[in-house]
Amino acid sequence: MYVSMKYILDDANKNNYGVIAANVINLELARGVINAAVEENAPIIINIGQGQMHKHASPDIMCDMIKTLAIKTHVPVALNLDHGSDFNRITDAFRNGFSSIMIDASQYPYDENVNITKKVVKLAHSQGVTVEAELGHVGQANTFDNKNKTLYTDPAEAVKFLKDTKADALAVAVGTAHGSYPKDLKPELNFNIISDIKKYTKIPLVLHGGSGSGSENIKNAVKCGINKINVCTDTFNSCRNFLKERLMENPEIDFLSLMIELENAAKETIRSYIKISGSCNKANNFSYYEY
Ligand code: 13P
Repeated sequence: MYVSMKYILDDANKNNYGVIAANVINLELARGVINAAVEENAPIIINIGQGQMHKHASPDIMCDMIKTLAIKTHVPVALNLDHGSDFNRITDAFRNGFSSIMIDASQYPYDENVNITKKVVKLAHSQGVTVEAELGHVGQANTFDNKNKTLYTDPAEAVKFLKDTKADALAVAVGTAHGSYPKDLKPELNFNIISDIKKYTKIPLVLHGGSGSGSENIKNAVKCGINKINVCTDTFNSCRNFLKERLMENPEIDFLSLMIELENAAKETIRSYIKISGSCNKANNFSYYEY
């Protein structure tokens, strides 16, 4: 079923588990991710990055496709614009039926972040669309700027930010980063920040940069209050590696078989993340709903 992200995250928040939000840019990834959720009987969030949407995955086509796949399953599926920052692209996502958007104004000073986020929340809520915002800043793993603790989310500021903006979910900066970490490096997360923000705000919290962050980190982050774990790089890399290996093994492989196997590779990557998120069998918590 196709649902709002709030519907999924409220249950995850109430029952202390995490839901995987997987970036998807085409039919094979969409089917792989949704089938992973079906096999694990788990709620799932489909993320499409603003840049991904612009370059490759146009919102009209993607939204119709995700909705069509979602309504054929019993598991709750939400569609979220990931890292929205351009007002035109955000409204484009609304118009095409995304059930959620992330407004990322985390690169700006606090007051500017509040003003931009507030404006988007007002518009989104008037249309029943969930809003994720970010406070602190989750950087890039290749430069590993998240060693810079000044970018971490401040729990007291998070309380004020949520009061000021009324966002539904908050992405927090606690030591993860987007992309591939330098070889053999596992990020060190500040779990106290997650626990404090959860204690003071009680809202669904989001961990960006899930890829390569390690299963123990993810499990502990969920225990402390994370409810949405974003995973992109590991899915894209596992699909690329699969294609490379399969084509080297059999350069004349039938294209259709290759695409079906690719879908399976995406499915297995996301299944492994669903298993550590705590969301297996949590689809049972949801009753029929129509967004
Ligand atoms: P990774 O690519 O590091 O998994 O991060 C995904 C993400 O946070 C998308 O917003």
